[in-house]
Amino acid sequence: MKLWIPLGAGSRHDQPDKSAEEFLARSMERSDSLPLQTWHSLARSTLSWFISRTSINGLLGRGSMHVFSTEQFHKLMDASGFTGPWNSLIDLGAGDGATTSHIAHLFNRVYATDISAPMRWALARRKFIVLDIERWQKSGPFNVILCLNLLDRCDRPNTMLRQLKSSLAPGGRLVVAIVLPFSPYVEVGERGDHKPAEYLPVKGNGLDGQIAGLIDRVFGPIGLKCLAWSKLPYLCEGDLGQAYYFLDDAIFVLEVQEEEPYNPTQSIKEKEISLEQVETIENTS
Ligand SMILES: C[S@@+](CC[C@H](N)C(=O)[O-])C[C@H]1O[C@@H](n2cnc3c(N)ncnc32)[C@H](O)[C@@H]1O
Repeated sequence: MKLWIPLGAGSRHDQPDKSAEEFLARSMERSDSLPLQTWHSLARSTLSWFISRTSINGLLGRGSMHVFSTEQFHKLMDASGFTGPWNSLIDLGAGDGATTSHIAHLFNRVYATDISAPMRWALARRKFIVLDIERWQKSGPFNVILCLNLLDRCDRPNTMLRQLKSSLAPGGRLVVAIVLPFSPYVEVGERGDHKPAEYLPVKGNGLDGQIAGLIDRVFGPIGLKCLAWSKLPYLCEGDLGQAYYFLDDAIFVLEVQEEEPYNPTQSIKEKEISLEQVETIENTS
């Protein structure tokens, strides 16, 4: 827990910063527009028969999200000791690229992926290099990889994490944001029941328990070391009923672990072996 970085504004670090305030002001303005919200509501109820909610948002240009600002990203990178190079960034499951756009100017090349076609069109309009969701690794390795609010929305989160690890350039950083409490929901998946095909073992009581669980039982065992983490509200543009929505997002900056990955089960086994050894020694003496 020592790796926590405060990112909020104000003396208690719990207030929205300028970028979040701008997002909220824009959301309130759009929520107040009766013609816009009526059109969105009608279009959504018709389109929901044919395409996913994410694709509807992409087509209508609504439901934009906000994770962090340029300054907050800088703080996270500084805290993790990242000094560059700033050649390539890839944002996986980037949605409409709203958060990507806050940090794109820091890198020479910016890549993005998304499973939803209307979101890919939105990303291309922002001039990001849009890669195929199955073949993006071929354009790597990348200096910084963003995986923001994707692990609970993609069908194969374990496979995704392993791919992310193997696609990091030496000294690179992986930034993972994840909504807690963990509640996976897959729009387009193999099983067809909105449950993921792969189980991600996010356990622990409360937000802090799940954060510790992610570091120890999800990232650690596959060889990803947490260098810094924080919490931010994950903001989403609202509708006629509510100006904006927010969820609790935990943000982690990770690097590839050089030494043997931490394995909690193994260390428990090691303890069991040493207890057996003690018993053997006691019995034979
Ligand atoms: C909750 S949104 C997050 C968007 C953005 N990263 C953010 O944090 O605001 C999840 C996004 O992941 C996309 N997605 C789901 N599975 C994916 C996959 N296997 N590869 C790429 N994108 C995927 C969805 O279409 C959606 O746009």
